[in-house]
Amino acid sequence: MTHRKIPLVDLHAQYLSLKPEIDAAMATVIKDSAYIRGPFVERFEKEFATATGAQHCISCADGTGAIYIVLRQLGIGPGDEVITTSNSWISTTEVVTQAGARVVLADVEDDFYNLDPDKVEAAVTPRTKAIIAVHLLGQPAEMDRLMDICRRHNLHLIEDCAQAHLAEYKGRQIGTFGVAATFSFYPGKNLGAYGDAGGIITNDSALAGRMRSFARHGSSPVSKHDHIMEGVNSRLDGIQAAVLSVKLPHLRDWNRRRREVAAGYTERLKDVPGVITPKIRPGCEHVFHVYALRLQNRDRVRDALNAAGVSTTVHYPTPLPFLEAYKYLGYTREGLPVIARHQQENLSLPIYPEITDTDLDFVVEIVKANS
Ligand SMILES: Cc1ncc(COP(=O)(O)O)c(C=O)c1O
Repeated sequence: MTHRKIPLVDLHAQYLSLKPEIDAAMATVIKDSAYIRGPFVERFEKEFATATGAQHCISCADGTGAIYIVLRQLGIGPGDEVITTSNSWISTTEVVTQAGARVVLADVEDDFYNLDPDKVEAAVTPRTKAIIAVHLLGQPAEMDRLMDICRRHNLHLIEDCAQAHLAEYKGRQIGTFGVAATFSFYPGKNLGAYGDAGGIITNDSALAGRMRSFARHGSSPVSKHDHIMEGVNSRLDGIQAAVLSVKLPHLRDWNRRRREVAAGYTERLKDVPGVITPKIRPGCEHVFHVYALRLQNRDRVRDALNAAGVSTTVHYPTPLPFLEAYKYLGYTREGLPVIARHQQENLSLPIYPEITDTDLDFVVEIVKANS
């Protein structure tokens, strides 16, 4: 069986679908020399706040820095603990350490692959200051339970929405539950720029002002040279903002198509022995940044797909608690049994709005033949 190579994501196909608008937007930024901050950045911030239903959007250089900015401006630092999921990209946790606090990792839910609220509750100590809920793979975390834990223990709830732009939990946009939420606009994300880019949303005006200042070297709102604190340099540039403004109006359609693709995979694979298709949390709108199967014969399926020119990956090959970087935290596989098992079973298949049904048929046949 021959077929074209199928990438994990196809950024070029998306560019071709918007080429005239993207090229014109980038040319305008260059013509206006509006490289850093300026009208394109302000416009995107307003548009993204509107799209997410938040009062404030603070753009920044990337999704990693976004979490760092939130942590620092919530005053989280030495002596504090921050609980988050065992399954995320290291951005979620490295900034906790950089802020001076201690990372605490909880196991994940077997069905939904996100932070398990029971494990979070068990990990709360008098030093806990915040929970970072990651809406991993595009699936909303269990917000009712996590909000309840935060309320009872007086903790900040931060949402890492890097993989879940415009996902909904029980009819409400993710990113609007916690005190602040962070986004990555890395090129491969559901809403991706043409380089690094990130943003923070919040409804807390005082926090928004502090975060905006901190991200720009601590400058006061009125004068760039009047530093009210030491900060960091984390700015979105004009070209990225202009690209994001062209793409944002298409995001809902792209997410809808991702859901269709996911449903297409799930329908084709639903009764295949040895294959567990992803479940959608009831009442939620998953945006399928990633379509992750769990497979009895994961390595055999992965090798067969790769041999046929189908790119796959694992989110993530080594979960956070088992990384060399976190050896000092002392987690064991026995202590985190769900993520330890998922690590052996996970496989992420190609998903992007432009993938065709013929591509899906091709991928599915290989999965079926090797499961
Ligand atoms: C869950 C999660 N959080 C944070 C980030 C960090 O985003 P960035 O790459 O823009 O720094 C990513 C990016 O991969 C991510 O997947």
